[in-house]
Amino acid sequence: MTTSNPPLLDNHGRPVNYLRLAVTDRCNLRCFYCMPEEGIKYLPKKALLTYEEMERMVRVLAAMGVNKVRITGGEPFVRNGLLYFLGRLGQIPGIDALHLTTNGVLTAPHVTELKVIGVRSVNLSLDTLDRDRFRHITRRDELPKVLDTLFGLLANGIEVKLNVVVMEGKNTGDILPMAELTRQYPVSVRFIEEMPFNGEGNRFAGFTWNYRRILEELKAHYPALYKLADEPNATAYEYGIPGHAGRLGIIAAFSRSFCGTCNRIRITAQGLLKTCLYDDGGLDLRKLLRTGATDEQLTLAFRAAFSRRAKDGFEAEARRSSHQPASESMSTIGG
Ligand code: 5AD
Ligand code: SF4
Repeated sequence: MTTSNPPLLDNHGRPVNYLRLAVTDRCNLRCFYCMPEEGIKYLPKKALLTYEEMERMVRVLAAMGVNKVRITGGEPFVRNGLLYFLGRLGQIPGIDALHLTTNGVLTAPHVTELKVIGVRSVNLSLDTLDRDRFRHITRRDELPKVLDTLFGLLANGIEVKLNVVVMEGKNTGDILPMAELTRQYPVSVRFIEEMPFNGEGNRFAGFTWNYRRILEELKAHYPALYKLADEPNATAYEYGIPGHAGRLGIIAAFSRSFCGTCNRIRITAQGLLKTCLYDDGGLDLRKLLRTGATDEQLTLAFRAAFSRRAKDGFEAEARRSSHQPASESMSTIGG
């Protein structure tokens, strides 16, 4: 690991230093807020960026000041060769933090290797501790394996954040049990507003459990809850509870209150660059790569994209070429 390059600023003066890279659009769960039961239409293998192509993208971006990479999917562990790829990424000059988002079903056997590779933190998607509800939400009976992953990560001293999507009528009763994990364990439990990315278009009817309501629920139960200083460019509002080993977070993913400090870009599994979660993927990197673009040409294309970023998720959504509201699967977008 080496010192990173100074990040480029976008057209709103925000540094761009954080890449979220989706290595696959496939998943072994079917969380209903992300995918329909029958799954989404997966990309053919050829349409996915190869690991070599992804590594090249990361090298080019690292030279432009990106220093943090999060691997997402789909579920990253369903793609073969993931650990080898992570090891390669960790060696790219300028990349000083490697992170991973996983659903934890296939992860437990690899935890010690993640530690060796130097993965700094793992975000684990976990919406409930109740096995029946887990099966209902994800349409798979895999809670025990996810818990193995959680405790394996903790035992190995890898920082863990739990992503809890708060779903009206599904798991609001799990908010407090999930928050209770922070009493004993040094985890960050983050409650996420549900977004319309369920791969089914119009079914999303909005939600009532926004970040204020989640906060009220937590405060009612933990009157001593106190605000922590938010990390720069964080998407979560963070809170502590006296005497607890872990911390709580609330992510206003639908209210989009964090766009003003957004430092992140995304590359989807098929190589589309998204400069906002809510945009429709302006730049086709796969096409550039496969038509022989040089590193300089790639750099110019990234620069151009950074200089026309939407100021927030509402503008990005309004600019979509389809004029349809954002509704694709989170698994296609890449977390
Ligand atoms: N709304 C909010 N969060 C979602 N995630 C997936 N789909 C949605 C959605 N529709 C979360 C999962 C995962 C993270 C990458 O995104 O919890 O951990
Ligand atoms: Fe898979 Fe994550 Fe989507 Fe659930 S939210 S179906 S774990 S990609």
